[in-house]
Amino acid sequence: MRLKDKVALITGGARGMGAAEARLFAKEGAAVMLSDVNVEGGKKVVAEITKKGGKAAFIKQDVTREEEWKAAIAETERRFGRLDILINNAGIFVTTVIEKTPEEEWDRLMDINGKGVFFGVKHAIPAIRRAGGGSIVNISSTAGIVGNTLEGAYTATKGAVRLFTKGAALQGAKDGIRVNSVHPGAIDTEMVAFLVDDKKHRKELEARIPLGRLGTAEEVAKVVLFLASDDAAYVTGAEFVVDGGYTAQ
Ligand SMILES: NC(=O)c1ccc[n+]([C@@H]2O[C@H](COP(=O)([O-])OP(=O)(O)OC[C@H]3O[C@@H](n4cnc5c(N)ncnc54)[C@H](O)[C@@H]3O)[C@@H](O)[C@H]2O)c1
Repeated sequence: MRLKDKVALITGGARGMGAAEARLFAKEGAAVMLSDVNVEGGKKVVAEITKKGGKAAFIKQDVTREEEWKAAIAETERRFGRLDILINNAGIFVTTVIEKTPEEEWDRLMDINGKGVFFGVKHAIPAIRRAGGGSIVNISSTAGIVGNTLEGAYTATKGAVRLFTKGAALQGAKDGIRVNSVHPGAIDTEMVAFLVDDKKHRKELEARIPLGRLGTAEEVAKVVLFLASDDAAYVTGAEFVVDGGYTAQ
């Protein structure tokens, strides 16, 4: 088991990639604290994991609220004794061309996708230091590396996560805290259903991906698992693209 005796906090764990990471981490021996604004979904994932003999708990958390970060980390330490791993996964996706993007949309995207990750790193560092070191994985996107004609504000938030990760890696290194970013391409979750439920649009998208299909949440979770585990002991400040070759073109 690759995460035996480790304790992980995963934000946005109620569905999609966060839920896939929670299931995989528990299978690999970690105790997992899932957080999300979606209480029903989060509790469902926890029930599924514990039914299979895994260790998991849920806490309601809005990642834009600093007090809720303090509470989530304190509850993880109270419940499981320590914090070794943080996966900053919670996020929202909005596609609006720049000239039609209202200020409120920019602010909301920046708050959840950007500030949420900042708060997470800020409050996880002391906790992971108390545990003697560990790993933080920030979920960015290929939209944090290359531009997209449909996205403006979303791209800015994910670009911020990419570079913030490198600064955090430099600051965490002396305490043995590794910080890396993962950049999924088009992954088949509910987040992108509004785009890919349309068969014609899905086909067009697949045609632009060298591997010819969308990725799955489980495929991203495996890369996140690697970074969270001691297998990645010498990996920090790095970015991992999981996109079927999309950004290689
Ligand atoms: N699906 C894709 O194609 C794709 C591609 C690149 C990057 N990503 C990124 O991967 C991450 C996970 O995406 P997903 O596809 O699993 O999405 P998803 O919409 O299925 O899941 C995201 C989860 O985050 C939660 N969340 C939203 N706002 C929150 C908040 N303020 N506080 C706490 N939780 C909140 C949601 O309730 C949801 O459970 C996101 O950061 C997303 O931007 C997704």
